[in-house]
Amino acid sequence: MNRQDILTWLRERDERQLEQLYRQADVVRADHVGDDVHLRGLIEISSHCLRSCAYCGLRRPNQHAQRYRMSRSEILESVELAVGLGYGTVVLQSGQDHELTGDFVVDLIRQLKSASPLAVTLSLGERSLEELAAWRAAGADRYLLRFETSNRALYERIHPPLGNTRSDRIALLGHLRKLGYEIGGGVMVGIPGQTYEDLATDIETFRELDLDMIGIGPYLPHPMTPLAKEHDETQSTGGQQVPNSESMTYKVLALTRITCPLANIPSTTAVATLNRTDGLELGLMRGANVVMPNVTPMAYRRLYEIYPDKACLHEPSERFDQRLRERIRGIGRTVGIGRGDSPRMLAARRKTGAGVA
Ligand code: 5AD
Repeated sequence: MNRQDILTWLRERDERQLEQLYRQADVVRADHVGDDVHLRGLIEISSHCLRSCAYCGLRRPNQHAQRYRMSRSEILESVELAVGLGYGTVVLQSGQDHELTGDFVVDLIRQLKSASPLAVTLSLGERSLEELAAWRAAGADRYLLRFETSNRALYERIHPPLGNTRSDRIALLGHLRKLGYEIGGGVMVGIPGQTYEDLATDIETFRELDLDMIGIGPYLPHPMTPLAKEHDETQSTGGQQVPNSESMTYKVLALTRITCPLANIPSTTAVATLNRTDGLELGLMRGANVVMPNVTPMAYRRLYEIYPDKACLHEPSERFDQRLRERIRGIGRTVGIGRGDSPRMLAARRKTGAGVA
């Protein structure tokens, strides 16, 4: 699929035509990563954040946000819950919170890795190379850092630097890869100011970075952010503004699967938030092969408000898990067992003849 094809599909509106794209994505998904849906237990360990991203409710200047930081024992309880539910991976996610110190995270990773065969994914923002190296050495397996948009000017508008250090998430993903992490990137769909050309470049960038994991969700305005105020006015990209719609998100998801056949791609909470009835299934049927059930303690979930009314706020983990398994079976898929390591990484290891760790 070349750039022109990608652009043509992104602009396609006829749902009957789009069914062809979705079918193709589903075939590529089945051929390359199979029918297993891998489950990752998501733990939102801190809502403190020192960044001022224009889109995110956790941004430091949002004084209405109530902040929390989970204690070590609370985190371990959530991990136990994830293990009890049979998840082979936990994802530790937070705002960029430097009071979650490098050493605290090292100890936590060591403890998790010594107690179980869990894969540990970190999603803790833009941290120093020393910290990222120390966490990898302690046993962390994967790192998620969405680059949000490949359009540098748009990125700078929505993601101001911290002090005078320029933020370059794409470069940071390269460092993470060199450190031996499985790396995950991704974007939001329908950011005010984002064009079709931008999205096509985003998808090409996924391929160039050869990502192991790719997270894609609609941009959802949070009222306590500057970008939400722009949202209504910024249909000013000359008819080129990408809508932050459910349908546009599926197009990007399907095109990403076709472009990056071996990537692990989640059906995201943001999609499920736009369509609570069957957004999760539609994501899985249009390219995705991963779901990240939230195992954060209920009391904290509503405080981790990157956007309002997240789909996971009302259902305890055990109940969600039960329904999730039924829903996965309901669309003829199976629940993955074990860590669900990156098929891209496994294929690369096979090629170089390196043993699988
Ligand atoms: N709408 C949609 N997604 C958001 N994220 C942050 N804020 C929003 C929002 N308002 C996404 C970003 C971030 C991920 C953890 O959540 O892509 O990388």
